[in-house]
Amino acid sequence: MEELGDGPCPLWLQHRLKAAGGAVPFSTYMEWVLQDPEHGYYGHGHVAFGRRGDFVTAVGLGSTLATLLLPQVLQCLDALASTTELISLVEWGPGDGELSRDLGILLAQARPQWRQRLHLVLVEASPALRQLQIRQLQHQPLPWRHAHPAELAAAPATGMVLANELLDALPVERLTRGKDGWHWQWVHCPQGQLDWCPGPPLPAEILVLLEAVGIHLAEEAFPVGWSSELALAQSSWCRAAAAALHRGWLWCLDYGHTARRYYSPQRPDGTLMAYARQQAMGNPFLQPGRMDLTAHVCTDLLRHWAEAAGWTWCGEVSQGQGLLALGLARQLSRLGEADGPPLAQRLSRREALLRLVDPAGLGRFRWLLFQRRCPTPTPGDLLAFQAPDGKARHSRQISV
Ligand SMILES: C[S@@+](CC[C@H](N)C(=O)[O-])C[C@H]1O[C@@H](n2cnc3c(N)ncnc32)[C@H](O)[C@@H]1O
Repeated sequence: MEELGDGPCPLWLQHRLKAAGGAVPFSTYMEWVLQDPEHGYYGHGHVAFGRRGDFVTAVGLGSTLATLLLPQVLQCLDALASTTELISLVEWGPGDGELSRDLGILLAQARPQWRQRLHLVLVEASPALRQLQIRQLQHQPLPWRHAHPAELAAAPATGMVLANELLDALPVERLTRGKDGWHWQWVHCPQGQLDWCPGPPLPAEILVLLEAVGIHLAEEAFPVGWSSELALAQSSWCRAAAAALHRGWLWCLDYGHTARRYYSPQRPDGTLMAYARQQAMGNPFLQPGRMDLTAHVCTDLLRHWAEAAGWTWCGEVSQGQGLLALGLARQLSRLGEADGPPLAQRLSRREALLRLVDPAGLGRFRWLLFQRRCPTPTPGDLLAFQAPDGKARHSRQISV
């Protein structure tokens, strides 16, 4: 396999940096290298999803994820079905479009009476991926369209916003503890090589924000050089998702940590990672525009921003626990039945199911659910999520 080396900064990026005054916040760099329509990893379509590509998301394991998420999607949408309005399932950041396609097929089978009422809406920043999604979505029966967040805000829908591994792809800021206190970490390009450089001091309101989720940066616990990420873009995203739905649900699925783990003094360099060809690397400057960049979600900050945007928190669960509650064990045991599909198919399905709950991988994903103006089901009745007070869920089944 070809080594991923530390090459010179591409000329387009050198020109951008020069035009911007020589140095930019990390979030600007991340936005450029991921979403620039000519050069960005997603924007231009350099991304390669799946087992033979750069990385595997839960969606890349075939229709397994959609099949398992279906009962929870149905329970949420059923709660809205008594209204006369259209119901929209909005997937934000749909990647190759497989999850929307599979959910479209499964929802049309499970609720044939909704075929004219239920619409799929895809919100995708990348022009190249929008083309890929158009090809995928041909193969499902529900009406569907792409929409820009501004269009959704102009005519808010009733339904659900689903975001699988979107938030970890939104641009993050980097903060670092210098000898002279806290400041932002910016990006520059001396002698044609990308590198970190000190940015402006951290404004007082950032310290206040982190205090709100229990992180006291002023403490001496953080050594000089300690750095991490702050996903300010998630705050405006929560507002955009709230503007998109007049009534409904917000379901975020992503790698995440609580604020205490995220901003632990024992995590000296944050959660930022670069991915290419199934390799994970800590250096975000290796191949700008040719690698994915991600940072984990701070679940406490996400909840803080979502609530500030008007969402009500319904619960949080790990993907492993959530999928078990949604029937993963039943699906595994069905694979052992003698009249099932051929052995090779069963083995590959079994592998996909186990990868989704692998405690060292996708099983650690965090699922966070919020709602706006949905009185039922109450959080304790949700299939996959613990009640906020930690009480056990009711044992319920949804007809699928
Ligand atoms: C890591 S991929 C995840 C794709 C897919 N959900 C999956 O799980 O396989 C991130 C996706 O979010 C899209 N994206 C990133 N920022 C976005 C934004 N601000 N608005 C809409 N889509 C965005 C990317 O182009 C890409 O489709």
